[in-house]
Amino acid sequence: MKNICVVGVGYVGLVTGACFADLGNKVLCLDTNKEKVDALRKGLLPIFEPGLEELVVRNHQASRLIFTTDYGEAIGQADVIFIAVGTPCGQEGEADLQHVEAAAVGIARSMAKSVVVVNKSTVPIGSGDFVANVIRKNLTRDLGFAVVSNPEFLREGSAVYDFMSPDRVVLGATDRVAAETVAELYSPLKCPVLITDLRTAEMIKYASNAFLATRISFINEISRICERLGADVKQVALGMGYDRRIGHAFLEAGVGWGGSCFPKDVKALEHMAAMNGCHPQLLRAVMEINKAQRRHLVQKVREALGTLQEKKIGVLGLSFKPNTDDMRDAPSIEVVHLMQHEGAVIKAFDPVAQSVADRHLTGVEYGKSPYEVARGADALVVLTEWNEFKQLDMGRIKSMMRRPVVVDGRNIYEPAVMQQQGFDYLSMGR
Ligand code: UDX
Repeated sequence: MKNICVVGVGYVGLVTGACFADLGNKVLCLDTNKEKVDALRKGLLPIFEPGLEELVVRNHQASRLIFTTDYGEAIGQADVIFIAVGTPCGQEGEADLQHVEAAAVGIARSMAKSVVVVNKSTVPIGSGDFVANVIRKNLTRDLGFAVVSNPEFLREGSAVYDFMSPDRVVLGATDRVAAETVAELYSPLKCPVLITDLRTAEMIKYASNAFLATRISFINEISRICERLGADVKQVALGMGYDRRIGHAFLEAGVGWGGSCFPKDVKALEHMAAMNGCHPQLLRAVMEINKAQRRHLVQKVREALGTLQEKKIGVLGLSFKPNTDDMRDAPSIEVVHLMQHEGAVIKAFDPVAQSVADRHLTGVEYGKSPYEVARGADALVVLTEWNEFKQLDMGRIKSMMRRPVVVDGRNIYEPAVMQQQGFDYLSMGR
């Protein structure tokens, strides 16, 4: 059992804090946002994440998970301090480090003993050294500390599972003992632990996300070629995936990638490369293909209806992927804007993201079910592959629509079945 402090109770911080508490540690979660901390003390979570609420409430009740706004209380007892604050995208695509810097200053000023400071936020290569310098400059006493980089690989919607069953833990440090102290925290999870230097650990995170985004842009490009040549991209991906060198994951063609990580990290890596004299052609193409994929879907709707002017479009799914209410860089934002720009009237349904979506969208009406959205629609557009859209009563849907057009941005329906049911069905790469 260790005393842990997690600075920043955003997505990563809250999952990290709750999971380490569940593994038997005493965890103090620190955030400067008092409202958020008060809500968490009452068991009210700022995000929707399967399994997290139960974990937070249970560990909070067992006094293993404590929420505070007080740096002194949080840092004083801690052996290991995780920095898990946001690193938003700056104007040029660079990661903005102001919250990381503020956390490092707060830690330095409240340290009462030697600590290991672990960076979990996705930070530009070299930020480990930056955090060490900020702490060194702001220390009020002569205390020892070491900085470790420990990138997170959590997926939204399965973050608790991903934390508890990781494929690997990556630790970067100059101080081997500090890295081993952090490795010890993960030892109950029985997974491979790679200990390397700080910059390499930081790069592993960017390279992993950029590679996954590249796979998706690759299959999306293949899907466009499939459309022209009469092949089925789903079968192509299946056939490719059986090759163990390739694998099945992250080969689903669709309306493209979004979320809080891929767009920000691919852009930041491209920016770092360009600023350091590299010419990141592939990363640029990966982002360009992703943008084009959103426009391509709108083009399909336009072609099916002739024009979007005054057409009623039902949208199924708004979050950037299923099992989350996260709307950050969700393809739906751009797709809805593009369709509205051409004069379409949008009615949308999402099982959990509607209230969050409303902050990103204007002029959208919301339905209480997919059927309500289908009523009177000229076309139904699927943007998120929520399970509950997969088994709809399609006969009922068709009878409610003004025109039986379905544009499936996530390939969740079978073309032959949809055509048999009388739909004008368009999907991605099939
Ligand atoms: C991702 C990484 O997976 C995770 O390791 C990292 O820590 C944070 O970023 P997340 O953003 O939660 O996680 O979503 P993920 O499940 O990876 O999906 C990202 C995007 O890619 C989504 O928009 C999803 O719809 C899209 N996607 C994914 C595809 O379009 N096709 C696929 O085959 C897989």
